[in-house]
Amino acid sequence: MYIIKIYYLLFAVIEIRAKSYNLPKPIDLSHSLDEDTPNWDKNFKFRLIDQDKQELSNGMFYIKNNFIAAEHGSTHLDAPFHFNKNGWKTADIPIDNLISSGIVIDVSNKVKNNGDFELLPEHLEEWEKIHREIPQNTVILVNFGWSSKYNNRTMYYGNAEPPYQFPGISAAAAEWIINTKKVLGVGVDTPSTDCGKSTTYPTHRILSANNIFGLENVDLENKNLPSRDFDLIILPVKIKNGSGGPCRIVAV
Ligand SMILES: *[C@@H]1O[C@H](CO)[C@@H](O)[C@H](O)[C@H]1NC(C)=O
Ligand SMILES: *[C@@H]1O[C@H](CO)[C@@H](O)[C@H](O)[C@H]1NC(C)=O
Repeated sequence: MYIIKIYYLLFAVIEIRAKSYNLPKPIDLSHSLDEDTPNWDKNFKFRLIDQDKQELSNGMFYIKNNFIAAEHGSTHLDAPFHFNKNGWKTADIPIDNLISSGIVIDVSNKVKNNGDFELLPEHLEEWEKIHREIPQNTVILVNFGWSSKYNNRTMYYGNAEPPYQFPGISAAAAEWIINTKKVLGVGVDTPSTDCGKSTTYPTHRILSANNIFGLENVDLENKNLPSRDFDLIILPVKIKNGSGGPCRIVAV
């Protein structure tokens, strides 16, 4: 009798523990990848090149695909190697840098669809006045309010052909970041950390020179992220000599 009662008690305790262990809700910050993904160049896009599909009369279904895709298509990571020949390649980035904390600098109310908008040091300082200092070893996401344009390339790039016109991070803001903070990565909800009209990519070069990775085409539409203190899980395809890679980004 007693043994049975003790067992019941044990099971009850295990059950209570299991119920109280709720994982926080993950939020997907990634666009999906397909032929319609807006790209810089039509030679660098996702293409299905082979498919093996079988549906047998016994009910068995089987499919596998071969695809080619740009390292820098859809939601993706820019490895520091992208603009720094001595920088980390995709597979070299320490996993500790990819599982980190995040903050969001939301300037969408200031951008108001203006494709010439650039994030300046004063926007970073303004964020710090409201939300306290940017923490060390974090990933800064900048919300320009641009994700809703993603499904129309002309609107997303701000033009069908270069010069493009979408917001980005100014060289001055990139300098401010590397001189005053120790951040792991910087992400944007546009095609590039540099603004669309840039042809010299100073922000890419400043971040890459400091082994800071970039995240581009991050989906920040209606994600209701807090401004700070959430966790980020950033998992690019582990391409050995990669300059970047398609990436799943999850906030927790
Ligand atoms: C994309 O946006 C452009 C510019 O606003 C517009 O002319 C075009 O019709 C749109 N394309 C689609 C498929 O909605
Ligand atoms: C990767 O880079 C190394 C060092 O530069 C080189 O020896 C190797 O051939 C490269 N591999 C591929 C697949 O590009």
